[in-house]
Amino acid sequence: MTDPIRRAASRAKRKSLRQLVRLKRQGLLPFSMFDDVADRTQREQRAAQKLERIYHQGQSLAWEGRAVLDELMQKHGGVHLSPAHTAAIQEVFAIILWGELAAWKASARLAMELVPMDAKMAATSQAHDEARHFYVMREYLAAVGEVPGGVKKHTDKLLLRVLEADHLAKLLLGMQLVIEPLALTLFHLVRERRVDPVLGDLLVYYERDEARHVALGVLYLPEVLRRMSRREQLSLARWQLKSYLMQFDILREIEPHLAALGVDVREAMRLARKKQVQATALLAEAMGRDLPVTEVFLRVVDFKAEFSFPRERYRSTAAKVVGAARSALSGLDGDHALFEGLGRAARDRA
Ligand SMILES: [Fe+2]
Ligand SMILES: [Fe+2]
Repeated sequence: MTDPIRRAASRAKRKSLRQLVRLKRQGLLPFSMFDDVADRTQREQRAAQKLERIYHQGQSLAWEGRAVLDELMQKHGGVHLSPAHTAAIQEVFAIILWGELAAWKASARLAMELVPMDAKMAATSQAHDEARHFYVMREYLAAVGEVPGGVKKHTDKLLLRVLEADHLAKLLLGMQLVIEPLALTLFHLVRERRVDPVLGDLLVYYERDEARHVALGVLYLPEVLRRMSRREQLSLARWQLKSYLMQFDILREIEPHLAALGVDVREAMRLARKKQVQATALLAEAMGRDLPVTEVFLRVVDFKAEFSFPRERYRSTAAKVVGAARSALSGLDGDHALFEGLGRAARDRA
C-alpha cells in the first residue's frame, strides 16, 4: 500500500472509531433527551405530565414496609391461617414474591433505558415500590412459615420471557399489562376472602402501588408503539398474545390452591381478563385510536379461556370446541360488552 492510501485508511478507521465512541456515549448520557419535548402533541404532553406525577405520588404515598407489617401484626395478634390455607398461601404467593423481584428488575431496567425524563422518573419510582413489595412479602411469608424457594414451571417461563425481552415495548407490555394486572387480580381475590387479616390489610397497600405501575405502560407505550413499524407492531402483538395465553398455564398450576382459598379459577380468569382489557382499552385511548389487534386478541383469549376452564362439563372434545367458539364470538360469560364499550368510548374521544 502506498503511503497516501495507508494514511487515508487509518484516518477513516480513526473517524469510525470516534463515531462509535460518540454513539455509545450518547446512549449512556443522552444530552439530546429534551430535544423532542417542544415537538410533543397535546396528547403526548398530557401523558408526560401524568408520568411525572406518578413519581411525585410514589414519593408522597410511599409507606414504610417494616413499620406497616409490624403494626398489622400487632393489630391482629400475628398471622391467623389454618394449615390448609397456609399451604395454599405459600403456593399462590410464591408467584407474588418472585414476581415482585421480576418487577423490581424490569422497572430498574426501564429506569436505566427509557430516555424521556418523565417516563424514567415513573420507572424509578416503580423500582422503589417493587423493592419494598419484595422485602415485605418475604418477611410476611417468613412469618407464615417457610419462604417459597422458587416458582412452578409455567410461572418461571413467563417471568423469564418478560425479563429477557429484547425490546422495551415487550418489557412494558409484558410487565405492566400482563403480569401487574394478574397480580392485582390475585391480591383482590385473596383480600376479599379475608383468609388472614394481616395479609388482607397488607394487600391494600400493594394494590394502591400496583395501580400506579399499570399506568406507566398505559401512558408510555403509545409513544414507543408509534415509533415502531407496522411489522414490528404485529410481531409485538404476537409476542404479547403468547405471553397473555401463558397465564392460563399459570392459573392451572395454582388452581387447587386457589380452590383451597375459596377462589374459583374461572372467577380469577374473568377478573384478570377484565383488568387486562381495561388496560388495553386505556392504551388504545392514549394512542387516540383502537388498537387493530385487540379485537382478534380478545377473541383468541376467550376461546382459550373457555377451552382451558370450561363452564360446563362437555360431552366430547367437539362440543368443547363449539363452547369455546361461542365464548370467542359472544365474549366470555357474555362479557364482550365490556371491551366493546371501552373501545367505543376510546374511539369517541379520539
Ligand atoms: Fe409490586
Ligand atoms: Fe408493580
